[in-house]
Amino acid sequence: MLSPALSVQTGRAFARRRLGDDRGGRCAPQERERGLGQIGRQLFGRIVSFNTHPAPQNAASGGLLAEHKSRFRAYTERYLADPDVQDHRPIALKIEHTLQVLGNASRILDAPSPLDAWGDIPQGGVGGLGYPQLARLAALYHDVGRFEQYRRYNTFHDKKSENHARLGVRALRQSDLLDGLEDEARRFVQTAVMLHNRRFLPRGIAADVGYVTRVVRDADKVDIMRVMVDHFTAPDPADPVVTLHVKEHPTNYTPELYEAVLAGSSGDYTDMRWTNDFKLLILGWIFQLNFRASLDMVRERSLARRLLENLPDTPKMRRLDGIIDTALAPETPAAGESVPE
Ligand SMILES: [Fe+2]
Repeated sequence: MLSPALSVQTGRAFARRRLGDDRGGRCAPQERERGLGQIGRQLFGRIVSFNTHPAPQNAASGGLLAEHKSRFRAYTERYLADPDVQDHRPIALKIEHTLQVLGNASRILDAPSPLDAWGDIPQGGVGGLGYPQLARLAALYHDVGRFEQYRRYNTFHDKKSENHARLGVRALRQSDLLDGLEDEARRFVQTAVMLHNRRFLPRGIAADVGYVTRVVRDADKVDIMRVMVDHFTAPDPADPVVTLHVKEHPTNYTPELYEAVLAGSSGDYTDMRWTNDFKLLILGWIFQLNFRASLDMVRERSLARRLLENLPDTPKMRRLDGIIDTALAPETPAAGESVPE
C-alpha cells in the first residue's frame, strides 16, 4: 500500500495515483459538501482562486506570531474564567493542544523532505504573508471554535453539537483575532481552518491552500494522537469528553476499523463505537500523514507504539505491529491523504 518515493511529483498528481487504492474513500462528493454551510460555501468559492501571489513583504517577521499567540491567550482566558463553563479542564486541554499543534506545524515547515507526499512547496504568499506564516496562523487558530463549542454544548462531539471548524471561522470573523491582516490573508487562514477537520479535502483545491491545510491537518493529527495516548494510558481513562462518548470496553472493537488498519488505511469515523475503535482509527491516520516529519514525530514520541500496547493482547491485534513499524520506518515515504477526483 505504501507508495514509492515522491520527491518529483506534485501533491495533486500523487493524490490522483492514490485514488484507486484508498479504502477510506467511501464518501460521495454530495455527502462531502453537505453540511458545509454558508461560511463554507463562501470560502469554498475562494479555494481555487488563490493562485498568483506577490512575494510577501514581511515573511520573516516573528513578531506577528507572538502578537497572535498573545491574542489567542487573551481570547481563551475568557473561557477559562467563564462561570457558565461547567468544567474548565477541557478548555485548558484545548489550549495546550493548540500550542502543541503550532509546534508540530513548525517542525513540519522547518523539515521539508523528499519523502513528503508533496512535491513542490509553494513559494511566496498571500496578503503580504509567506506560506509558513499563514500555516502557523492557521495552526494557532485551527481549533478556535472549540471554546465556544464547549461553552454552548458541553461537548467536543461535532455531530452532537456543531461543526467546530465552522464555529471557528465564525469566531475569527466576529472577533478581533485577525485584525490588521489583509483580507486575502484573513480569508486564506479562515479557509484552512474551515478545511482542517474535513475527512477529505475538496477537489480542485489550489496548491497553496492544499499545502498549508495539510500542514495543519498533519500537525493536528499528531497531537490528537498524543492526547489520546495520554488519556488511554492514564489511571482513570474514561473521560467521555475526550473520547467523544464512545463506550469503554477492554476487548470489544469494530472489525471494519481493524481491517482498515490491516490494509494500510484509515477507517470511517462514524463506525466508532468502542474505545478500542478510537485507537484503531487514530492508528489508521498514520497512512494519511502527508509529511515525513509527521511520521518522525509519531515514531520519536512512541505514539503508535503506546496505542498498539493499549489494544487487546491478541494475535490478531499483534498483526498490526509490523504494519505500523514499516509505515513509520525512517526510509518510508509519507503516504499522504487522498483528494477525490
Ligand atoms: Fe479541530
